[in-house]
Amino acid sequence: MQNQLNKQNLILAIDTSCDETSVAVVKGNIVISNLLPSQIDLHKQYGGVVPSIAKLAHQERIDSVVSEALKKSKITPGQLDAIAVTKGPGLAIALEIGIRKAKELAEKFNKPLVAVNHMEGHLLSGLAERNVETEDQKLQFPALGVLVSGGHTELVLVEKIGKYSKVGETLDDSCGECFDKCGRMLGLGYPAGPAISKFAKEHRTNIKLEIVHKNTSTLVKGTNIKTGKEYLLPIAMYNSGDLNFSYSGLKTAFRDLVSKFSDLDSETIKDLCVVFEHAALMQVTHKLEKAIKKYSPKEIWLGGGVIASVRLRNLVRSSAKNLTVRYPFSNKLTGDNAAMIGVVASYCLNQNREVYTNPKDFEKIDREPNLTF
Ligand code: KG4
Ligand code: ZN
Repeated sequence: MQNQLNKQNLILAIDTSCDETSVAVVKGNIVISNLLPSQIDLHKQYGGVVPSIAKLAHQERIDSVVSEALKKSKITPGQLDAIAVTKGPGLAIALEIGIRKAKELAEKFNKPLVAVNHMEGHLLSGLAERNVETEDQKLQFPALGVLVSGGHTELVLVEKIGKYSKVGETLDDSCGECFDKCGRMLGLGYPAGPAISKFAKEHRTNIKLEIVHKNTSTLVKGTNIKTGKEYLLPIAMYNSGDLNFSYSGLKTAFRDLVSKFSDLDSETIKDLCVVFEHAALMQVTHKLEKAIKKYSPKEIWLGGGVIASVRLRNLVRSSAKNLTVRYPFSNKLTGDNAAMIGVVASYCLNQNREVYTNPKDFEKIDREPNLTF
């Protein structure tokens, strides 16, 4: 049944779309295990993910992570109803490691193979449940997905599960990438998103935040209440009239702003984090409010790494007013993870969507690095 969250299928899911070698076991939408050994330490020194290093790490780790996920969930491969794998979008040479492993497992244990769109994973990540039986939630449609990650910033209209249309997307950089690049300018390491959020949270009460309109631009003006220092950053696309996003202009404006300070003392860094965060997130909530007016969704579904930001969740809640807002129950489900892929696969099995039962058909599944909705 469409509105019923699904608690039947036992699925082992794999996601190697970027820098997490993630394997999970789910029963319908209930997460039994969700392993995501991080590769951050391997990529940190380069300030971003290096595809060849990610591929190698996936190759080295995949077998042990599969075994560990099964062991942790006390499931034997024979008990599984299906194997699921991310086919895209993501890094081509990273995706192929997960796909190869999933095909091997499906063939060896004679299980159907489900090929999943990673973005559908982020979209449905808020439907995942803890490893306990809870009452079925009734989903109401249409829902509006707000996906904010390191690779994507998009709004997706959900008519029902499996029927999606993208109604807004970034025209250049993603919101998460902008957090990482701007945080790097402040020396906050990689990935810098969580560090910016942390500083902004600690320091926000010291800054008066205002929205100002200048000619055709809309900006965030931040004033440090104690020092009187003022900062201006643009909320891009504010008046674009559509539901698209842009983050490259904010990155450039931030670089210009930072270059004005010969000495970046810790107070200035924290001021900058508060103002930057506001400019970046106001773009999301402004477009969300426009989309709510246009499409009258009954629910808002949040997904993607940046959703770990409590500030973003709070801003979305106030934009969404009385609508139901769903987001993952744990931060292990906001960033890339295999549990969300398992949840999607469970719906796919019920709908017979992207399910391959004959090993001869497995070759039809190939990496799709630029897959979209
Ligand atoms: O979804 P994700 O793990 O990767 C992609 O699929 O792209 O998202 C990673 C992004 C990074 O840019 C990271 O800085 C950002 O999510 N992020 C955050 C927070 N936690 C992770 N951004 C802001 N505040 C956070 N707390
Ligand atoms: Zn992702």
